[in-house]
Amino acid sequence: MRGKRILLGITGGIAAYKITFLIRLLKKNGADVKCIMTPSAVDFISPLVVSTLSNNPVGIEFWNKQNGTWNNHVEYGLWADLFVVAPLTANTLSKMANGSCDNLLLATYLSMKTKTIVAPAMDLDMYAHPTTQRNLELLTKDGVQIIPVESGELASGLSGEGRMAEPDTVFEYIENIVGASKNDFLGKKVIITAGPTYEALDPVRFIGNHSSGKMGFRIAEEFLARGAKVMLVTGPTHLSLENEDLEFIQIKSADEMLHEVQQRWTDCDYGVFAAAVADYRPKNKETEKIKKKADDMIIELVKNPDILKWAGSVKTDQQYLIGFALETQDLIKNGTKKLEAKNLNMIVMNSLKDIGAGFGVDTNKISILDNRNNLESFELKSKEAVAKDILNYLKTYIG
Ligand code: CTP
Repeated sequence: MRGKRILLGITGGIAAYKITFLIRLLKKNGADVKCIMTPSAVDFISPLVVSTLSNNPVGIEFWNKQNGTWNNHVEYGLWADLFVVAPLTANTLSKMANGSCDNLLLATYLSMKTKTIVAPAMDLDMYAHPTTQRNLELLTKDGVQIIPVESGELASGLSGEGRMAEPDTVFEYIENIVGASKNDFLGKKVIITAGPTYEALDPVRFIGNHSSGKMGFRIAEEFLARGAKVMLVTGPTHLSLENEDLEFIQIKSADEMLHEVQQRWTDCDYGVFAAAVADYRPKNKETEKIKKKADDMIIELVKNPDILKWAGSVKTDQQYLIGFALETQDLIKNGTKKLEAKNLNMIVMNSLKDIGAGFGVDTNKISILDNRNNLESFELKSKEAVAKDILNYLKTYIG
């Protein structure tokens, strides 16, 4: 996002107050932000707040009534890498769909040289009205991307579809368009481990864990989107992934995972080991189903191979290795130990104590520690966004 020029168009809806959070997110991530407001947006949020947060003057009128300076809509159009209209009211939507040009925001839209995305916000009946739906279709046909509205409580007190997407979501859409430079991992080979391992006790039972595999799959998708060739070695999950640049390898046990990784790792540029590998497996796998007998039962376990440690032990200086650490206490201390013990370049740490982080959920809250002693902590995000953060971090690390 660093250095990307985001032009924000704010229209007159109650959701305008949320734009302050979006501006802060964009600025925090290194974007340059300029804002244009419609005259009615000024009733909902002060231009002083918007200009202070964006660190730029706000365009409202075609010309400044105090000093006669002209706000050049063509220049705005040339300056921006992306034009984001949020919130988009039914009124401005209708004007954009029909080419009206009676304020600075609309003139700028007509002058845009790059993509426009919009985040509609209105009451449920207005949103559901055929005219609104028709206008949204018109904008889509004109190449404008629509960020879907959310369902929930509305300013009118009613509840339903029409709420503007949250600033985090709008930010993710923006990042998707201008954030990651496409193909920045073009032709690179990556091996990724994901999901749990199942360690068989007998033909019907196993020792496993709750890993869903989502984090590893999201990382695989992100590498594919950025041009890499991906080998995804996954334990049993409900997820699937297809892509012509993907080799999808399904295994059950840690031994099987090790075998598949050993076949491929030396040929790879990067390894991302996100699997929740079972540390131990039953010493004996019974060939027949174990029958219940005594009240107590003792299962003897033996240690599984540490796949990541093996990859670290044979790693060359041209290969980059990323491990994961899910901890319940002393996150940094334990992460540092693993980074060193397994000869990693980076370790992605998360704590089971953070709400929304860990197994089964669609979000994660991570910190990344690298072997140059840098530590960066991220906010709670969707696993897609976390995957982007990990790849962006790797890209910066490689230099
Ligand atoms: N890992 C692996 N093979 C194993 C165990 C772990 O490849 N047998 C990888 C995981 O994919 C992850 C990292 O190592 O990237 C996690 O390491 P570690 O935390 O040591 O595994 P834990 O089993 O959680 O260790 P501990 O129980 O000591 O916290």
